[in-house]
Amino acid sequence: QTLALIGAPTDIGAGSRGASMGPEALRVAGLQAALENHGLDVIDRGNLHGPANPWQPPSGGYRHLPEVVAWNQAVFAAVLSELQAGHLPVLLGGDHCLGLGSIAAVARHCHDTGKTLRVLWLDAHADFNTSGLTPSGNLHGMPVACLFGLGPEPLTALARLPDGRNALTPAQIRQIGIRSVDAGEKRLVREQGLEVYDMRFIDEVGMRETMQRALAGMDDATHLHVSFDVDFLDPELAPGVDTTVPGGPTYREAQLCMEMIADSGRLASLDIVELNPALDVRNKTARLAVDLVESLFGKSTLMRERPGR
Ligand code: ARG
Ligand code: MN
Ligand code: MN
Ligand code: MN
Repeated sequence: QTLALIGAPTDIGAGSRGASMGPEALRVAGLQAALENHGLDVIDRGNLHGPANPWQPPSGGYRHLPEVVAWNQAVFAAVLSELQAGHLPVLLGGDHCLGLGSIAAVARHCHDTGKTLRVLWLDAHADFNTSGLTPSGNLHGMPVACLFGLGPEPLTALARLPDGRNALTPAQIRQIGIRSVDAGEKRLVREQGLEVYDMRFIDEVGMRETMQRALAGMDDATHLHVSFDVDFLDPELAPGVDTTVPGGPTYREAQLCMEMIADSGRLASLDIVELNPALDVRNKTARLAVDLVESLFGKSTLMRERPGR
């Protein structure tokens, strides 16, 4: 398996500056070497380029829409070309608005190759706002809605498949770790029937049962995409993010989550987003992200049999 690291150094969709330094912080934390240690081939494609952050207030309900479109177009093209080359793309964000371009490319590739797409959205937030619902105008709070066709035309167009369908339907996504959803966003989540494993659910049934449910129903034709917003993790462990929400998964829960995804054997593309080195403490959030991503690609303490799939 060949992994392709794609840096997207921007904070264009976020509410604070700094996620633009995320790709470099992950490199400094040793992401490539850590994955190579597990026998994976890793190519670092370097960084994509796009517009600077003009730091403007929202206009028409969106902050920096033209710039967000430009960055997402670049991400879409880069991710699609890695998939077409048979590589496993790893998007190094950058803020979570880039999940739109990344998953749109994955959906396109699945459409072209007859695969079924399943998305795991690991996040404190549902990222399901629209211009009418958003409290901030920040587009990192809207990528999931855009993938379902709810959003500004230039972004929903990027996420539209050649046959006119949207990149994603609610049945294809599972959200895990959620603990902050805005008032209007809550109604939309309910209305669209999103499958959300929030922290209440994880507290009640545990991470193991949560992941068994979230990973259920996949088969040989499934392409599994993981969109890992680092704010998924408890902020005591992972302070280096813009929008911290207390009460996230512990180190052990996060490890089990990653290990169970690895055991599924279906992981085929990944986003690591929202890491903000300007808010981090001696790069510890980046190092934790690398540690968890190692588990996501199969690191385990002992030589274990992979459970039957
Ligand atoms: N719900 C808030 C908003 O829409 C926060 C979104 C945070 N999203 C993220 N990817 N960190 O402004
Ligand atoms: Mn290792
Ligand atoms: Mn997010
Ligand atoms: Mn988040």
